[in-house]
Amino acid sequence: MKPELVRTIAAARERCRELRQKGRLGFVPTMGALHRGHGALIEQARSECAAVTVSIFVNPIQFDRKEDYQRYTRNLPADVAFCAELGVDLIFAPEVEEMYPTEQKTFVEITDLSSHFCGKFRPGHFRGVATVVAKLFHIIQPDIAYFGEKDIQQLTIVRKMVEDLNFPLIVSSVATVREADGLALSSRNERLTAEERRLAPALFQALECTRKAIEAGEGVSEAKQKGLAILQKIPQMHVEYFEIANPDMQPVSEITGPVRVLAAVWLGQTRLIDNVLALKIE
Ligand code: PAJ
Repeated sequence: MKPELVRTIAAARERCRELRQKGRLGFVPTMGALHRGHGALIEQARSECAAVTVSIFVNPIQFDRKEDYQRYTRNLPADVAFCAELGVDLIFAPEVEEMYPTEQKTFVEITDLSSHFCGKFRPGHFRGVATVVAKLFHIIQPDIAYFGEKDIQQLTIVRKMVEDLNFPLIVSSVATVREADGLALSSRNERLTAEERRLAPALFQALECTRKAIEAGEGVSEAKQKGLAILQKIPQMHVEYFEIANPDMQPVSEITGPVRVLAAVWLGQTRLIDNVLALKIE
């Protein structure tokens, strides 16, 4: 069945109130250009909830570069068809003026967790994400909200916001969906040239190399160097950061528990991010 599409906050509130009467309401916030990564979140929501709402909104306040916002893929008919296949009940796709009718002067900032990695290289990004997610949570009022591990710093920040601001919902995470060659699915992959697409899986290979080194008991700098060496062999790839973080998204100097190996690289004009979990067996 085709999902219902609503464009206003008032209509979304009303329809979500009705959907919640069926049982648990699952919510998958997205910026559209939907792919199998988003699909995994929707399927998880579908299996755990009585009803599922997906939001599609390219949020201007989380983009640190204007051209990235302007170039972001927008294709609502394709996204609606994608949601229909997966049994989504409601799509909330507001215009910018609906979400920000006047200048937004209230922002949610999650300190410390946003100071490294993507937070350091994309000033204001996580403030924009947390603010729009808080607004969407107030509009949809879901029981469970779904986020991908692909954006691990975002997931960590949203969890902390929910805890600190007492949002009455559960944040559920879904494993990263990858292409057969390891490249994490992302709407930005479409922008890669054929040559860049061929080189892109090196990012996952580098993360995996560092993960294996950590799990084999190597120290932080040796493990990092092994992964970095893979990326440094590719002249077209510019490493923004390649780091090992603890669950509070702080860089570690020693490995004493589970860590994330996380990286951002530029391949030509396209920025790619990815991460893997490393578990050292004592
Ligand atoms: P977007 O990039 O559209 O991603 C929406 C959700 O899909 C996020 O939770 C993201 O982690 C997840 N996702 C993307 N690619 C994935 C993959 N390959 N495997 C698993 N999950 C994947 O993230 C955003 O939008 C925005 O910042 C948003 C939270 C909607 C706020 O504007």
